[in-house]
Amino acid sequence: MGFMKNFIKVVMALFICANISSSLFAISSKEEASAPKKSSWDLWLEKHRINYDENKVICGTIPDPLVNVHNGFKADNALDWLEKVRPSIVEEVEKLYSPRPPRPSSMRFEVVESGEAFGGKAIRKQIRIYVKGDTEKELSFGVLMYVPKEAKSVSPVFINMNYYGNHTIIADPKILTTQFWIRDGVVGNCEIKNSTPPDDIRGIRASRHPVERLLDSGFAYLTFCYCEVFPDTSDVSINSNNISKIFSDTAYPYKRSAISIWSWAISRVMDYIESDSLLDKSRVAVVGHSRHGKTALLTGALDTRFAMAISNGSGSMGAKLSRRNYGENISSISDKYGYWFSDELKKYAFAEDKMPIDQHQLLALMAPRPVYVESAKADRWADPKGQLTALVAANPVYELFGAKELPTMANETVPFCGNTGYHIREGRHDLTYEDWEYFIKFAKKHFGTAQ
Ligand code: GCU
Repeated sequence: MGFMKNFIKVVMALFICANISSSLFAISSKEEASAPKKSSWDLWLEKHRINYDENKVICGTIPDPLVNVHNGFKADNALDWLEKVRPSIVEEVEKLYSPRPPRPSSMRFEVVESGEAFGGKAIRKQIRIYVKGDTEKELSFGVLMYVPKEAKSVSPVFINMNYYGNHTIIADPKILTTQFWIRDGVVGNCEIKNSTPPDDIRGIRASRHPVERLLDSGFAYLTFCYCEVFPDTSDVSINSNNISKIFSDTAYPYKRSAISIWSWAISRVMDYIESDSLLDKSRVAVVGHSRHGKTALLTGALDTRFAMAISNGSGSMGAKLSRRNYGENISSISDKYGYWFSDELKKYAFAEDKMPIDQHQLLALMAPRPVYVESAKADRWADPKGQLTALVAANPVYELFGAKELPTMANETVPFCGNTGYHIREGRHDLTYEDWEYFIKFAKKHFGTAQ
């Protein structure tokens, strides 16, 4: 009897529990149903702890750009900085981006087309740059160049890579279409796929390449498509016919990371510039937007033949201070774009304060050559404030070289055109004609009147 009583009690207790938990479950699933569902993008941002709240920014002490990263020596003059501090920063930069490939063992330039353009005010040249390393292979990429025809002497140059092919930069029907892998993308209303016929996208990117305006201001303009040199994807096999293949692992024993290789290719264009009597090799500005902005800064830092570097919306691992936890961070960039960098970078996910250098030191590697940083107000991902903070933090190095016109944080709202330069404009992440007007002004200030 006692056993039966207890048995009934247990069954009843189980029944009650089951009811309570199922009604609890019902409540919580009702709540879940009413809470807005997080998109996979939101979850991704959460996973990488992306912060967009200025009140939650914690920016630890940034390294002193006057100090040798390895032995603590502090320079108090320009020569000491160049000889005893700069190399230590270069070493750390190379650890993060992977060293660039070595110089080619041989190169040749072939002018495959040339003619007049823009109603006769410019000369267009299309050059193939052929390069060899230590393997049997020879690889090449196509450079498009416009130069003012009536220039009284050699022209200063802007060099800017393009995203979808030379034929997309303006609607000049003479521009050769090169067939190579291009990444999917959207330009305006046009969805671009690798399979898109080149003629369908001729001139589609003209808003980023104001060639005629640059020619009228006396500048030559050179461009090539970065994907012809190294594909912009983690699956490099998508176009294994890339420049990294001309080097064996013995000649180039490092990770073949995209930004480094694009940067190396820009230096090959500089080799060409040195050989062209229409161009002034001492007045070459390397410009780039976004991932190309990161590449432009790396190029100017590692190849001192470039007289100026201009970063447009380069953000994380470009002009933005990594230690400022606002917008893109090391965790997210190395997760999604790990193939742009060396594997070393991943180590600093959520540990930016442990990085031996920060991006102001990359900017400082341009000194005393002028460097320019652009931000757009709606481009929170690139952290406009973090970009200006880095530029201002590079000031002490420029000061060693006697620079007097340097930016302050007051330039958060006021454009600045001095020894270094900065502006922030309305709008989103893009390279616009408005940005180019600032770049032309800055280049004219440093390169003199172009013509
Ligand atoms: C992504 C990436 C940025 C990069 C940008 C671009 O947004 O996270 O770091 O600058 O692409 O190159 O357009």
